[in-house]
Amino acid sequence: MKKIFLLSVLSGWLSSVQPQSSGPITDPASLVLPFIGTTNGGHVFPGATLPHGMAKVGMDTDSPGNQAGYDANSTFNATGFSQLHDTGTGGAISLSNFKLWAFPNCTAFEHCPTSIETRKVLRNVLPDGTPDDFASPGYFSSNLSNGMRVELTATRRTAIHRYTFPAHTTEPRLLVDITNDGPRTSTFPVMTLNSTSARVMGGAQFAASFGPGRYTAYTCADFAGEGYELGQPTEFGTWLGNSPVKGQTDLNQQYFGFIDELGALFTFPPAPSGKGNVILARVGVSFISSEQACANAEEEIPDFGFDRVHSENRATWNELLSRVQVDTTNVDKETVQLFYSAMYRLHISPADYTGENPKWISSEPYYDSYYCNWDTYRALYSLMALHDPTTFSRIVRGMIDIQRHEGDTFQYSTLSEGTYLTGFNVGWLPECRGATAMQFIQGGSNADPILGEFFVKYSDHAAALNVSAEDLYTALLADAEMQPPNWNLQGRQANAWKEFNYIPQDMFDAGGANTKQVSRTLEHAFGDFAISQVAKILGKADDAAKYAKRAENSFNLWNPNVSVPGTPSVAGMMQPRFKDGTFNFTDPRHCSIHDPEMATCFLNAVNRDGFYESSPIVYSQYVPHDTAQLIKLQGGTESFLSRLDFIFNQGYFDISDEPSMQIPFMYHYADAPGKSTQRARKVMAESFNTSVGGLPGNDDSGAMAAYTAFNLAGMYPLPATRQYLLSSPFFPSISIFNPLFNSTTTIKSNGFEGNPADGIGGKVFVQNVTVNGKPYKSNCYLEWDVFVNGSLVELTLTDDPNVTCGSGQEALPPSLSTGGYS
Ligand SMILES: *[C@@H]1O[C@H](CO)[C@@H](O)[C@H](O)[C@H]1NC(C)=O
Ligand SMILES: *[C@@H]1O[C@H](CO)[C@@H](O)[C@H](O)[C@H]1NC(C)=O
Ligand SMILES: *[C@@H]1O[C@H](CO)[C@@H](O)[C@H](O)[C@H]1NC(C)=O
Ligand SMILES: *[C@@H]1O[C@H](CO)[C@@H](O)[C@H](O)[C@H]1NC(C)=O
Ligand SMILES: *[C@@H]1O[C@H](CO)[C@@H](O)[C@H](O)[C@H]1NC(C)=O
Ligand SMILES: *[C@@H]1O[C@H](CO)[C@@H](O)[C@H](O)[C@H]1NC(C)=O
Ligand SMILES: *[C@@H]1O[C@H](CO)[C@@H](O)[C@H](O)[C@H]1NC(C)=O
Ligand SMILES: *[C@@H]1O[C@H](CO)[C@@H](O)[C@H](O)[C@H]1NC(C)=O
Ligand SMILES: *[C@@H]1O[C@H](CO)[C@@H](O)[C@H](O)[C@H]1NC(C)=O
Ligand SMILES: *[C@@H]1O[C@H](CO)[C@@H](O)[C@H](O)[C@H]1NC(C)=O
Ligand SMILES: *[C@@H]1O[C@H](CO)[C@@H](O)[C@H](O)[C@H]1NC(C)=O
Ligand SMILES: *[C@@H]1O[C@H](CO)[C@@H](O)[C@H](O)[C@H]1NC(C)=O
Repeated sequence: MKKIFLLSVLSGWLSSVQPQSSGPITDPASLVLPFIGTTNGGHVFPGATLPHGMAKVGMDTDSPGNQAGYDANSTFNATGFSQLHDTGTGGAISLSNFKLWAFPNCTAFEHCPTSIETRKVLRNVLPDGTPDDFASPGYFSSNLSNGMRVELTATRRTAIHRYTFPAHTTEPRLLVDITNDGPRTSTFPVMTLNSTSARVMGGAQFAASFGPGRYTAYTCADFAGEGYELGQPTEFGTWLGNSPVKGQTDLNQQYFGFIDELGALFTFPPAPSGKGNVILARVGVSFISSEQACANAEEEIPDFGFDRVHSENRATWNELLSRVQVDTTNVDKETVQLFYSAMYRLHISPADYTGENPKWISSEPYYDSYYCNWDTYRALYSLMALHDPTTFSRIVRGMIDIQRHEGDTFQYSTLSEGTYLTGFNVGWLPECRGATAMQFIQGGSNADPILGEFFVKYSDHAAALNVSAEDLYTALLADAEMQPPNWNLQGRQANAWKEFNYIPQDMFDAGGANTKQVSRTLEHAFGDFAISQVAKILGKADDAAKYAKRAENSFNLWNPNVSVPGTPSVAGMMQPRFKDGTFNFTDPRHCSIHDPEMATCFLNAVNRDGFYESSPIVYSQYVPHDTAQLIKLQGGTESFLSRLDFIFNQGYFDISDEPSMQIPFMYHYADAPGKSTQRARKVMAESFNTSVGGLPGNDDSGAMAAYTAFNLAGMYPLPATRQYLLSSPFFPSISIFNPLFNSTTTIKSNGFEGNPADGIGGKVFVQNVTVNGKPYKSNCYLEWDVFVNGSLVELTLTDDPNVTCGSGQEALPPSLSTGGYS
């Protein structure tokens, strides 16, 4: 696209002035391409937001694949510019509330085409066929085919829009749409407008996009002329469907059913001669009330200072992104952009809704848009642990606060403004929360490893970060031991888990869908591993042993007698198991490109096979805390290695879904880290790039972004442990600053000669490792201490893929059955 071309011109200039070492990157925001993954199902949000901001203001389109509003395909029309979005999700379109729209030239107020279908227009299309849209961290702009130019930026709870009308516009008009969220589910809309100040206040109830819950959202819009006094509107009114009603100021108490087309419409006086019509719209949002939306807007953007907000927003992103520095010498511009774009995307969700929790009163932080922890626990928080501990701690506090307050799954859907849950202080950790509502769980209750990840890394600093160790542990135990009334939405099917040490396929248990039993078993085992890690740190030896034992429950589903049809050597599979201990059978090819039945494995009742979003053969690799035991069960090192090769060579590896994520790095456990390097780099080369379609499926709220960033950094995380698996970074050096420790760790590749295009050859294999000049115990992983202390990690690279983890006792990465995790 055009923006990529422009940036590469700039980079050519930069590298020509800095031929040797690239020096610190002071404006990493300039390397971020927010349009990556904005078509072909990536569902990435390219609009303006602060890191983890609540206001995510962006363009909405009439694309069928617009879960985050936008689609980079220029054949789709713009339908509005709304204030709230998620990013990279599946489900239905989420949020997309409170669209604004500008009319440069409707013939008369009453004739403005106000409904979505009639108002929508195409964007201007550039000669290469792409839309005339631009985005960078904290900023989005577009030129529409009706002559309107729209620019957007945001503070945490307030968006500011700049509408530049075509020259000679005499009647600039702006519309506020109260009811059209993405899936168009509104009920009980309320709205008033002030005919002199043009303030619009309103809100409605809407459906959460991935669960049964509903939420209420509010807005407050004000207008100002840029560079001139806007003056009172010359015409004002409401609109319903396609009918503006001039003079009407109030739509309260009129509509109660599903109403998805109503709002306010203004005509403003034209700018004084010599000035263009440039109208700023400041739009506050709130989940509490429209008064609070106004207060948020007044507090955050008192001055309507679009450029000020934009530059402060960008500075915030730059401070965050600058914590990770790469040397770009000998590295393609595209790789650098891929890296910083990934670092950017992993800070879009979850969103900081602190002060906006409608369900209970608390002074703790409140984060929302965990969509879903099942996606993000694998990599995202381990990257956050490296460079953003304060945000991580606030998210953990918010999760614990949810667990302490939201105990009743039946009352939440009837909540409305001013009603608070009281009397419950024991609930479950969130799993797939969105728009303040519980949404469907996927595999497990995967806040457990997220809390485990935090505590394993920051237990020494928990008090300083205001995380209560006791509350954290209580929250974990609630998940592990207590069965919630509806385990489709939170927690686990804990009674079955405790009775059988796996989730039986034939346990017809009220309270949730009897599906995904194998996936849930494997996730719960990993969750219990995380709990055992926390218990160990807390000195609770009995609990540590208990949960470590339960972590081995994964192997209760191992059926040695099942093999891939036609390939008897790939033997032993995770399989669904009945209460009586016997196994059911799911074809190992199920849910892969070789599935003879092409059966579904998504979240629906038709999926009776026990597996979620990946095949049995992929899930049979998924015991991240005890790969050593898996190697034993799979017939030893050689057979394990050939099984991994089989998975890749036969197309079972599927990076569009998270259970495959760690598979490229599993060669490490068989002392073949060079093969991990080859596989991991090939996955990057084939499936991740800077194009608008450059993601293999949804970004999943930053899960794939974290995966990308780790791969390019030459690492893969093991959540809730002190280890990061190590390969070679795509940069001659990468430095990670941790603001809590005030320490910087640099991984430097001696002999770096660039990255092979196909990812598999070249001088990219780690031969040996030193830390602060001393030979390190392993070439295959780094301990957390390396990052705590701020170290210089030096890698010696070779072009020989037959490298090993080293010869010492601790050379192989740890596994539970071979001594566990120190
Ligand atoms: C854009 O969308 C149209 C309509 O869905 C489709 O026919 C076309 O192939 C898409 N273009 C690109 C570049 O993906
Ligand atoms: C865009 O809108 C125009 C007219 O409003 C319509 O003809 C066209 O089909 C729309 N494009 C898509 C992809 O729906
Ligand atoms: C839109 O048009 C303006 C000039 O009116 C131009 O500066 C800008 O680059 C164009 N494109 C975008 C995406 O804003
Ligand atoms: C408004 O302007 C657009 C773009 O110039 C044009 O296509 C449209 O016909 C105009 N509408 C009216 C009512 O003048
Ligand atoms: C409308 O706004 C004006 C100007 O800010 C203010 O004086 C007036 O009180 C407002 N009217 C209502 C009904 O709030
Ligand atoms: C922890 O809480 C104290 C007291 O409320 C506050 O002053 C401090 O800023 C908090 N620290 C963090 C990291 O949130
Ligand atoms: C696997 O097959 C062996 C030999 O037939 C049998 O003894 C064993 O019970 C079987 N295991 C399972 C889990 O079916
Ligand atoms: C056993 O597996 C088959 C095939 O996946 C499935 O249709 C059936 O429902 C399973 N049986 C039970 C009791 O879940
Ligand atoms: C870019 O990534 C997408 C998504 O994985 C992939 O389909 C496409 O082939 C890649 N393009 C290139 C040129 O590698
Ligand atoms: C952080 O470390 C740097 C040196 O690396 C030092 O100059 C600075 O004073 C330290 N800051 C704090 C707050 O300790
Ligand atoms: C690392 O490998 C290189 C090349 O074989 C060798 O020269 C160097 O001494 C090794 N360093 C350590 C610490 O083993
Ligand atoms: C690596 O090992 C393989 C098989 O053991 C061998 O064929 C290959 O030549 C070795 N590569 C190098 C560079 O030594």
